[in-house]
Amino acid sequence: MKILAIETSCDETAVAILEINGSKRDPQFRVLSHIVSSQVKIHTKFGGVVPNLARREHERNLPLILKRTLRESGLLRISKQIPNSKFQTVEKILERESDISTWFKREGIKIEAPDIDAIAVTYGPGLAPALWVGVNFAKALSCLWNKPLIPVNHMAGHFYSALIETKKRGLKMKTEYKKIAFPVLALLVSGAHTELVLIKKHGDFRIIGSTLDDAAGEAFDKVARMLGFGYPGGPAISAAAEMEFSPPKADPIKFPRPVINSKNYDFSFSGLKTAVLYFIRSIEKTHSIKKLCPAIAREFQNAVTDVLVTKTIRAAKECKVKTVTLGGGVAANAALRERLAAELAGQLPKVSFITPELSLTGDNGLMIALAAYFCGKKKAWTAVQADANLNLT
Ligand code: KG4
Ligand code: ZN
Repeated sequence: MKILAIETSCDETAVAILEINGSKRDPQFRVLSHIVSSQVKIHTKFGGVVPNLARREHERNLPLILKRTLRESGLLRISKQIPNSKFQTVEKILERESDISTWFKREGIKIEAPDIDAIAVTYGPGLAPALWVGVNFAKALSCLWNKPLIPVNHMAGHFYSALIETKKRGLKMKTEYKKIAFPVLALLVSGAHTELVLIKKHGDFRIIGSTLDDAAGEAFDKVARMLGFGYPGGPAISAAAEMEFSPPKADPIKFPRPVINSKNYDFSFSGLKTAVLYFIRSIEKTHSIKKLCPAIAREFQNAVTDVLVTKTIRAAKECKVKTVTLGGGVAANAALRERLAAELAGQLPKVSFITPELSLTGDNGLMIALAAYFCGKKKAWTAVQADANLNLT
């Protein structure tokens, strides 16, 4: 089967087409196309993602990316006769996406229904204005092409991103599926979520821990801003933390590890963020923040990593899982990947640890296609709505 997947939950416009053969136990994947267009440069100026700007960019990008995806997959056919019997419905669906509606009238309507089996789309969680563009675009395509729609939870996508590896072989991309043994514990860490999820089988997600306040990625972004870095802050903090520095002459910098010893699996990063802020305020008159930046970044990153790793290991032990996976934007953090790998190898050597390849840690369409395949349910387009606060369980 072939799935066309659309992702617009935040500041990445992404479309992918995945071909799947074989069984769910041992599927063979072929990535026909996988395009991610990042809006980071646009949002950097504002120090974070501006929902309405994201929405405008998704509107601009989606039609272009869809065409490119179909062309790359060899599935693009333009019809000479314009079948417009459904156009009024498409116009109605795209009432609030006038740019896309105009594109459909001019061009989109001429694209013949491609040889795909379903359209998958992220319907939440995320920024409502951004989500709606993708959802309405997918609904329009589903209506026009008469293909079922599979609404996908973005965080399920982040979980499934760990199960695939795309390798370049010459000019071709070869995709390998990483088999997993259930039960699985997934640590999902993104800009808006920090979750420990127990997964007993495909689609059976149980959130056993989540953040009480800021998400891990959000804390990285906020501390980065305090240190004068732009958005997104995670990569900047991890780069600064890797820099060589001579330790401050005064007391070593020490930040708290909030709720690290609490009995549940919940997280809290807001106090840590405030501790960094107070520390910067207390020294900025007497010290150069620029000079201390690598030390602050490293201690902050260590604090976040300590908490994430400690709670994940404890949950993995108590839930007796066979596999631990990592997913979400913060999964790109090398210190976190290395620490979790080392602790698991030392404390739970029989548990396998699976991480997404770096290019799949951020938002992308491929992870949405994978989640749709493993646990999605086909729906009529009329039954699909965006849900900014969608939960995984
Ligand atoms: O999953 P994602 O791309 O988007 C959401 O679904 O939110 O995650 C984005 C988050 C941002 O907060 C960003 O700062 C963080 O992931 N991030 C990192 C790194 N790369 C991205 N955080 C820490 N270290 C990194 N290397
Ligand atoms: Zn994400």
